[in-house]
Amino acid sequence: MPKVTILGAGNVGATAAHLILLKGLADVVLLDIVPGIPRGKALDMLESMPVEGKNVSVKGTDSYADTADSDIVIITAGLPRKPGMSRDELLEKNAAIMKGCVEQVKVTSPKAILIIVSNPLDAMVSVASEVSGFPKRRILGMAGILDTARFKTFIAETLEVSVNQIDALVLGGHGDDMVPLISKTTVAGKPIIQCLSPEEIGRLVQRTRQGGMEIVNHLKTGSAYYAPASSVVAMVDAILRDKKQLLPVAAYCDKEFGVGGYFIGVPAVIGAAGVEDIIEVSLSEEEQQQFEKTKEHVRELVRKVRSLSR
Ligand code: NAI
Ligand code: 2OP
Repeated sequence: MPKVTILGAGNVGATAAHLILLKGLADVVLLDIVPGIPRGKALDMLESMPVEGKNVSVKGTDSYADTADSDIVIITAGLPRKPGMSRDELLEKNAAIMKGCVEQVKVTSPKAILIIVSNPLDAMVSVASEVSGFPKRRILGMAGILDTARFKTFIAETLEVSVNQIDALVLGGHGDDMVPLISKTTVAGKPIIQCLSPEEIGRLVQRTRQGGMEIVNHLKTGSAYYAPASSVVAMVDAILRDKKQLLPVAAYCDKEFGVGGYFIGVPAVIGAAGVEDIIEVSLSEEEQQQFEKTKEHVRELVRKVRSLSR
């Protein structure tokens, strides 16, 4: 059975752990700095396995020794945002937490694939890459699946159709300048521009860009976790089953999309090796302009996070 470690037993971490167990994908180790939380949550999840009929194990811990030789390490450790906060405001604190976590993982699970979740996502992936020194195809950030799922949800709701009828792709950084590709969005094979007016599409794009904050404003005490956890587990599933699945993830791009050496949300083929390929889909002129803007935002965040460690 594969072994998946989740660092951070909070909302996203614990929800992802339970989903992995329910799908019978792997044995899970749940680690947090607050010792009782991962132990209590893990035991509670373990006790749901006889009901679910799944022979997988889960262990809660505060010791990296228990995480040794994991196949995948998911990092959700860090602070979530509160109403009125941008993801970028978490940079300094979460960069320090990310660094501490990856320094340990590098020693205990040197062959693992890392899935980064903590915000601000694009900068945290970059920290994980620099601290671990792992091959870049083994470092992935989760955001595009979530942002795409939100866009699909809003389209389906507006047109009163099944989410399964919608094809869409949201690229770029995980921020307010993310890029939903209108030119690639279809409803039952029909281009979305034939289904909705430009104003309606604009409203759905804006709602998608603000999708995280919409949830924060409802919850008040933290950020979204059910859809984020589902999105993480889609990545785990693609890796462990070697699905070669095309998914939007934050992946390292050099020449691809003209990114020039950063992690950013792009369509990637995800399989047992991690990021196995990056697919350079064509962008319309407007999408290209938007992609340039999100690239600049990611570069700026990475510059900031690098300056913190100097
Ligand atoms: P949460 O507060 O519920 O959980 C975070 C957990 O991390 C806490 O249990 C905390 O004790 C733990 N933690 C803190 N420092 C740690 C350390 N050094 N080692 C191990 N554990 C540590 O937060 P939630 O909602 O689970 O979100 C986690 C992170 O994921 C946040 O930064 C949030 O912004 C981000 N996020 C990113 C998404 C994305 O699309 N990339 C989606 C949802 C959340
Ligand atoms: C979200 O988009 C918090 O980044 C997270 O919900």
